[in-house]
Amino acid sequence: MKRNLTRFSGFVLAVYMLAGCAAKDDYPGLEYAPQMYHSTPYEPLSQIQNEEIGSWLDSNPEDEHGEFYNSNPYNAHGMTMREPVANTVRRGEDLPYRYAKDDLELAAAELTSPLEDSKSVVKEGKALYDRFCEHCHGKTGQGDGLVGEVFLGVPVYNSAALKDVSEGHIFHVITMGKGRMGAHASQLSVEERWKVVKYVQTLQKQ
Ligand code: HEC
Repeated sequence: MKRNLTRFSGFVLAVYMLAGCAAKDDYPGLEYAPQMYHSTPYEPLSQIQNEEIGSWLDSNPEDEHGEFYNSNPYNAHGMTMREPVANTVRRGEDLPYRYAKDDLELAAAELTSPLEDSKSVVKEGKALYDRFCEHCHGKTGQGDGLVGEVFLGVPVYNSAALKDVSEGHIFHVITMGKGRMGAHASQLSVEERWKVVKYVQTLQKQ
């Protein structure tokens, strides 16, 4: 008898759970503690535009929308997410680089490194140089990296032409590229570029 009862209650439970999956057109199923999922304030990343969702729970059927509708009526298409205002600068980012590629002389004269001279900065600069520049410019900046040997025309940092160029000059070349050298602004952050500059300066002085 007891066994039958257990079986029977198991059966009832299974039927009950299956009934929960029943797909009626206007009823997507049960949602446990829905207030945990649906935000009342405008929530750009989980915006509910569907006017139906939650409507069967709605205590006030006169409402225009379902209970969890949280789209912004003041924006086009009810969109909650907005594009940032033009010229917005991401927090922690430097202002947009204001020198054009041809402004090398100006950048060379005006830009100064925000970094202090220190062994650790030079060391970090070297690590970045080894990854991003060494294959063309060579270990010691003689233009004899493996790629540089094929690429040709890679200059020597401690040559008469380059040994005295300023930190701003080097920074600008890394940022915008020069001649056949490509820009590296997308690979290296502003801070990383200044670190590389510190290391290149040690190679100029060799
Ligand atoms: C694909 C090869 C290549 C890579 C990678 C490369 N360079 Fe160059 N670099 C060149 C060439 C070629 C020139 C000569 C450009 C010219 O004047 O036509 C040059 C020129 C330079 C100059 C001298 C600019 C001048 O005023 O004459 C500096 C400084 C320099 N590179 C630094 C770097 C640094 C720092 C990196 C790494 C972040 C780097 N380069 C990565 C090929 C490369």
